[in-house]
Amino acid sequence: MSDEELVLDIPEIDEQHQTFHEMMSKIGQLVPDMYKPMDDDQVDDVVDALYDLREFALLHFRTEEDYMSEVDYPELEQQKSEHERFLTDLTRMEAELMNGSAIPAIKVYNFLNDWYRDHVRNLDKPFGEFYSKN
Ligand SMILES: [Fe+2]
Ligand SMILES: [Fe+2]
Repeated sequence: MSDEELVLDIPEIDEQHQTFHEMMSKIGQLVPDMYKPMDDDQVDDVVDALYDLREFALLHFRTEEDYMSEVDYPELEQQKSEHERFLTDLTRMEAELMNGSAIPAIKVYNFLNDWYRDHVRNLDKPFGEFYSKN
């Protein structure tokens, strides 16, 4: 994650975003042809990777929300509900995969990547600016 626009200048959070990004990229690498429906082994690998990503996301969201409540960040509730929405969508995607829907890996990857970039740019980054002034 080299994009300047995604850096908050809060080292602990930036490191976690970096890790999140690496875990996401790993999912992209599990499946050589991301546009084809996955076979059973690939689905198992992706489901395992999503499980790890969820665990890490929980830690990250807790960390971020702690930083926010520490400085009475006015957008904390919006952050909480967006974090919650991500976890709900992630659960839905895991369930679809486990129920045998023929989802290509690219759909999983795009879901993660779109959420991540959009969330960090539009919600986390403004917090970085707020935090530096408080
Ligand atoms: Fe966030
Ligand atoms: Fe974040």
